[in-house]
Amino acid sequence: MSAKEVKEKILVIDDEPSIRKYLQTLLEVDGFDVEAVSSGREGIEKITAGERPDFIILDVLMPELSGIDTLKELMQIDRGLNVIMLSCSNEVGTVVEAIRIGAHDYLTKPFEKTELDAAMLKSRQKKQLVTENLALRDYCEQITEDISFLAASPQMVRIRQQILQIAPVDVPVFICGESGVGKEVVARMIHLRSKRRSQPFIKVNCAALPGELLESELFGFEQGAFTGAVRAKPGKFEMANKGTIFLDEIAEMTTHLQAKLLHVLQDHQYSRLGGRHLVETDVRVLAATNVDVQEAMKTGRFREDLYYRLNVLSINVPPLRERTSEIPLLFRHFLQKYSEKFGKTPQGPSKYLLDAAVNYPWPGNLRELENFVKRYVILEDDEGSLRELVEMSSARQRTSPRAEPAVHREPQGLKALVRGLKDEAEMEAIADALEKTRWCRKDAAKMLGISYKALLYKMRQFNLDTPRTRRASVPAPAAAVEEPTTIGIGGRNE
Ligand SMILES: Nc1ncnc2c1ncn2[C@@H]1O[C@H](COP(=O)(O)OP(=O)(O)OP(=O)(O)O)[C@@H](O)[C@H]1O
Ligand SMILES: [Mg+2]
Repeated sequence: MSAKEVKEKILVIDDEPSIRKYLQTLLEVDGFDVEAVSSGREGIEKITAGERPDFIILDVLMPELSGIDTLKELMQIDRGLNVIMLSCSNEVGTVVEAIRIGAHDYLTKPFEKTELDAAMLKSRQKKQLVTENLALRDYCEQITEDISFLAASPQMVRIRQQILQIAPVDVPVFICGESGVGKEVVARMIHLRSKRRSQPFIKVNCAALPGELLESELFGFEQGAFTGAVRAKPGKFEMANKGTIFLDEIAEMTTHLQAKLLHVLQDHQYSRLGGRHLVETDVRVLAATNVDVQEAMKTGRFREDLYYRLNVLSINVPPLRERTSEIPLLFRHFLQKYSEKFGKTPQGPSKYLLDAAVNYPWPGNLRELENFVKRYVILEDDEGSLRELVEMSSARQRTSPRAEPAVHREPQGLKALVRGLKDEAEMEAIADALEKTRWCRKDAAKMLGISYKALLYKMRQFNLDTPRTRRASVPAPAAAVEEPTTIGIGGRNE
């Protein structure tokens, strides 16, 4: 811990002077600011006076006020206190009770320094989890039983304000954004915050049906309107009457249908296919697209007059790579969702995995992240998920047109080509891991899921000795360097 950093404070409560001295020495060497008192009462006084140590190490067996009674009083003052109990091996029942009351962990005397470190690390993680869950509650709004709206970045907080502002105003809304950014969630939230909330919300995917079928789907048909129309059927506009219709992927609609829709928006009436009567409609239209509408209008694929009719208000949902500050919370949110759904209790995510998730560009946006977390919950393999991300990142870098061609694409045997590509991917993944861990080789090896020795070998092979040589080109097939074991990012090698 550097001198500039604020030291973490630890309060030791133990009646045995030798234990107090031992803990004080041990923890001060590690850079903690330690205070030790000899009774529960003294400890409680300090907390009552407003002191909030980062950790409290509390002995179970003490004369006068016992550890358990001290813990009860401490928890009454502040349930957020981070308490680690010190017990003897014959006090199992007491330890269980202490955890139930609110202690984070326990150590059995005599204990090793590594056990103390592990208990503090666990306790720190637990505290962080509680803080993150509280943050989740602050930022996440439950819209329906299975849809939530999380808005933690400045852009999304603004969008949430926009939604709340425009939801009660009964005009069309045009929602734009890349695939998977949350356009449907926005649409549902607009409906549920509007006066139409108790009426139907009908979603129509305009890309899912060819022109004529979509027309009959939207406006319905009379019996005999076309071959096969044996019975009259109401359309989605009729079903959505008094409620909201959500026209997803509207740019995929044929221009003929766009013209019909424009009339419906203007006159609030239309007729079913093959019908002679006009049907009155009172529907709020929300439309969404992931294509560049300006471009679609230029090429005549999307009618300008329809666009201006629909675009009374618009919401542009940014891609996830432009709101990376939300990724840890979204990760936690999806983790909670799928842990409950699959009845699992995953430990992580580890710091490495979260860092990698924050750095990955998520081309499929929230949907891709959600599926990734779903897999993470099912497989319960932090290292495996991390490897998956590292591989996806390097695959993207390889296929990105801006990536330097590290492998010369001269005519060569297939084996050599594959080997070259594999080396290139490995080098990129290793260089990335080293950069992300600030060249801490131990952490980088952990991040990549390979042994320290294997990492050193690979670094030598790829000339990755210092940050300066980072983008060294992939050397010729590594025949010159003896490979100690089979190593590959994607397979474990201890
Ligand atoms: N703000 C958010 N908070 C929490 N979850 C979200 C949020 N936005 C989207 N999601 C989740 O991400 C997934 C994708 O969202 P949604 O279906 O709304 O995206 P979309 O933009 O309509 O995608 P597409 O263009 O592919 O139709 C959904 O499972 C949704 O629940
Ligand atoms: Mg959608």
